[in-house]
Amino acid sequence: KLGIILAVAGSAVGLGNFLRFPVQAVQNGGGAFMIPYFISFLLLGIPLMWIEWAVGRYGGLFGHGSAPFILSRLHNHRIIKYLGTIGIFGPIVIFIYYTYIESWLLGYAFFAITGRLLAAATPESMQAFLLTYQGLAPGSNLLTAYLFFLITFALNIIILYRGVKGGIELLCKIALPVLFIFGFIILIRVLTLPNVTAGLGYLWNPDFSVLWSAKVWLAAAGQILFTLSVGIGVILTYASYLKRGDDVVLSGLTAASTNELAEVVLGGSIVIPAAFIFFGLAGATAAANSGAFNLGFVTMPLIFSQIPFGQFFALLWFGLLFLAGLTSSVSLVEPAIAFVADEFKLERKKAVLRLGLVLFLLCQLPIFFLGQGVVDELDFWGGTFCLVLFGLIETILFVWVFGIDKAWEEMHHGAELRIPNFYRPIIKYVTPAFLFFILGFWFLQQGWPVVMMHGVSQTLVPYVLATRLGLIALFIGIALLVRKAWYANK
Ligand code: PFF
Repeated sequence: KLGIILAVAGSAVGLGNFLRFPVQAVQNGGGAFMIPYFISFLLLGIPLMWIEWAVGRYGGLFGHGSAPFILSRLHNHRIIKYLGTIGIFGPIVIFIYYTYIESWLLGYAFFAITGRLLAAATPESMQAFLLTYQGLAPGSNLLTAYLFFLITFALNIIILYRGVKGGIELLCKIALPVLFIFGFIILIRVLTLPNVTAGLGYLWNPDFSVLWSAKVWLAAAGQILFTLSVGIGVILTYASYLKRGDDVVLSGLTAASTNELAEVVLGGSIVIPAAFIFFGLAGATAAANSGAFNLGFVTMPLIFSQIPFGQFFALLWFGLLFLAGLTSSVSLVEPAIAFVADEFKLERKKAVLRLGLVLFLLCQLPIFFLGQGVVDELDFWGGTFCLVLFGLIETILFVWVFGIDKAWEEMHHGAELRIPNFYRPIIKYVTPAFLFFILGFWFLQQGWPVVMMHGVSQTLVPYVLATRLGLIALFIGIALLVRKAWYANK
């Protein structure tokens, strides 16, 4: 059971904590972002954590490990398997770009050792280094980035191939402690930098006016779901490996708190103050706007280039991030593996290799179309929209269709901790209503009639459109497979 807690915590702690969270905070009002963020944690994150652990364990009892089939056990209606398809599709969408960004960390760790990274010691040269690495600067190419992508992708497949116990759990058992030790060492180093208070002040001094924007709430809710790995089907799959008597309440809470420690304490107090010290508010915002994961890549090496033993700290930092990314990216493939293995009765190793081939092809898109906004587009649909939507679907199914009484009992079966009673109405009313309103306001504010191309620059429109059509095609493809498996097993 400890293995599964570690696997879930490993999935949760990732690039979201150290790279995405700082960008979201800087883009959405800094300190004020923390208010919808903490509210979302209490009203969405924790309830969904419990729901997914409980529902996953329940589905696992019937031998199912993927969302379409797990959710169909809560209620028998043919539409549910298609809604559940999001729980395989969403993680794949995230995996497609996540693994590529993870591979940059390996590349950066390498260039930290060779010294090339820290040779670029101004904000401009650091931006230029990133653009060159990404193949976006004039005259640059993707050779290096591609090489590190290949290594990263292969590592993912090897770990998955070794299975849950011998691969994923073992990795998390080693990576998580290492990651926290590295993280605290770097935190202490950053907190002892001069001027650090200005940066910390930004994070902890709210500007309340942003609270009127639905976009900020959607971003906060999306970040909570993304960082906790909930609302997407991954934890359903991990929890399906539990036994009926295993606790889910305390386990879910442990995994969630571990993640928040890494996100708020480490992620928040390392990258954001660092960005302020070297870039100021305007510069930090510009760096954040340049890409959903860019901030940590351009700010952190600057710090390292100016402190004693910078090379060592840079290696620690990028090593830490790489490990954090690896324990998350493997989790994103697990629902698809469980689906193919359980429903097509394919041996795990074969399932991993076949899926690996498909994923490899899909991963080419963000690599070659990064400059066309494909990563941010995938991150929005896979990493925000799907999470809120699927979180809503799961909650309604469990709490309203399966029923709160049965749900409450199911969550407490084998529980080593009782959920306080005031959480019952929260889970029943507040969580689904909150998710629903976020979706609703977002639709309204985006302006549905213009096909939601708001804010997309003219030159990118064809690429964004192509990405969206591609995503729809991928979804239909997976849904057809789900359908095939469904009728084959009838
Ligand atoms: N929680 C991971 C992070 O913070 O980086 C990302 C992630 C992993 C999201 C798995 C969703 C998921 F299912």
